[in-house]
Amino acid sequence: MNGHFAIAIDGPSGAGKSTLARRAAAQFGFLYVDTGAIYRTVGLAAHRRGIDCHNEQAVGAILGELDIRMGYNDEGEQRMYLNGEDVSAAIRAPEISICASDVSSLSVVRAFLLEMQRKTARENNVLMDGRDIGTVVLPQAELKIYLTASAEARAERRLKELLAKGVETDFDSVLRDIEYRDYQDTHRDIAPLRQAEDAVLLDTSALDLEQSCQALFDIIRARLPLDGPKA
Ligand code: DC
Repeated sequence: MNGHFAIAIDGPSGAGKSTLARRAAAQFGFLYVDTGAIYRTVGLAAHRRGIDCHNEQAVGAILGELDIRMGYNDEGEQRMYLNGEDVSAAIRAPEISICASDVSSLSVVRAFLLEMQRKTARENNVLMDGRDIGTVVLPQAELKIYLTASAEARAERRLKELLAKGVETDFDSVLRDIEYRDYQDTHRDIAPLRQAEDAVLLDTSALDLEQSCQALFDIIRARLPLDGPKA
């Protein structure tokens, strides 16, 4: 599409999309775009203002005040800026995960963020991860992958990550959050999470990180043009 090559990776929360996508982007020379981080930034803004994240009118009313930008640090990590403030750490709090899922079901928010994502893909070879990249944002993507794992396997992994970061939580509450978000993400009216018909399915329930990574690399190698993405 438009001289650039796009890989879309969709799937539920905690399937390891961001870790695997980041590695694959570095391996194959793509710009990694974590679109969940953009929804999280809107969720954070609404949460900070004490707005009900389900209220389309209230959330819609603040969108015009939000200057949301993506940047990359020297290590190539994506950073999120909200009105000039680096909110990359703040958007990872568990309560912001819920707000992000809530605001992401609002059509006003999805429309607001659509062009930002498409513009990035027009200007770069992207490996973009999210929920609706293959179905809505980049339906012409050259390669679509649906990355998933059982809810229990995902909760185990997420629990380890959170505990390592010093967040106090337990398996049941992590599993509850994952199930809540799975339900919302797959049942919302607009752009629900689903596997695109032409997406390759990768289920990592029984795979560790290295095995998942190899499986993803194998899929990309099999589909990439031999000379790699166009510059
Ligand atoms: O991938 P994540 O957990 O950081 O995403 C946060 C929320 O944003 C998630 O609950 C669903 C939503 N989201 C979305 O609706 N569409 C996307 N392309 C990416 C994320």
